[in-house]
Amino acid sequence: MAKNKKNKKSMALRADRHALYQESVQDSEFELDFVQDTYKDIRKRKPVTLREDFAGTARSACVWTKRNKNNRAWAVDFDEEVLEWGRKHNLEKLKPKQRERVEFIQSDVLTVKTPSVDVVLAFNFSYWIFKQRQQLLGYFKSVHKALNDDGMLFLDAFGGSEAHSTQVEKHKLDGFTYHWDQHSYNALTQDMQCYIHFRFPDKSRLDRAFSYSWRLWGGQEIDDLLIEAGFSKVRFFVQMFDDDSGEALDEFEETREVVDHECWIAYIVAEK
Ligand SMILES: C[S@@+](CC[C@H](N)C(=O)[O-])C[C@H]1O[C@@H](n2cnc3c(N)ncnc32)[C@H](O)[C@@H]1O
Repeated sequence: MAKNKKNKKSMALRADRHALYQESVQDSEFELDFVQDTYKDIRKRKPVTLREDFAGTARSACVWTKRNKNNRAWAVDFDEEVLEWGRKHNLEKLKPKQRERVEFIQSDVLTVKTPSVDVVLAFNFSYWIFKQRQQLLGYFKSVHKALNDDGMLFLDAFGGSEAHSTQVEKHKLDGFTYHWDQHSYNALTQDMQCYIHFRFPDKSRLDRAFSYSWRLWGGQEIDDLLIEAGFSKVRFFVQMFDDDSGEALDEFEETREVVDHECWIAYIVAEK
């Protein structure tokens, strides 16, 4: 008995970090509902073509093609390992006809060439990897070019006093705990180093399963760069909180004002 126990691999060793990521960080269904509804409200038509930048496992691109038989998607990431995981676990789950409407592209988002699309997504703050103004401007310009005339870029951002500090946020999920670790922060340059760790009930751990070196861009800075890149209008949709409990709600409201808040999170929608 004891011997078996010893030989048994820990939960961390048996875990798949990409599956845990998708479970804890990504809600493609919710994000795509937001994209579809917002695009339709503004443009009075449904978007059909979508490019998922910094796609990772390309989950959103795959879900997009399942939603409508006319939908097409391109998923762009420069890391072959994560794209390969996405082919095996997300693409393979689609029906053959749906699979034909998704293309995985291993490329840098700064230089990728894709057909013109209605929507480009860059979620989970991935564009914060571009720390220099010229780099981020160059990225926004290249997205602007890749969009149809009535196309839109969807981004997200967070901020508030807690964003400018080191802290670890823990969420207990089914079978593991997700840790968001704002590990270090340079208050001068706004450079931040963040990690995702996973902890398991058998006390084993996957430390630094994912690592992010970002610049904490401010909302107005992002708005300015998008306009400079050629976008005609930028909207912020900020997550709402329950007045009584203070709990974050699954509701995002268009606003230009977040009053002295310790933590805000928003979708940013840039219209071509
Ligand atoms: C935080 S993950 C995003 C995953 C997913 N899109 C999401 O919303 O959760 C960031 C991904 O961006 C990719 N990446 C970072 N810089 C990139 C670049 N310049 N071009 C293409 N992919 C990049 C990384 O390989 C990684 O898979």
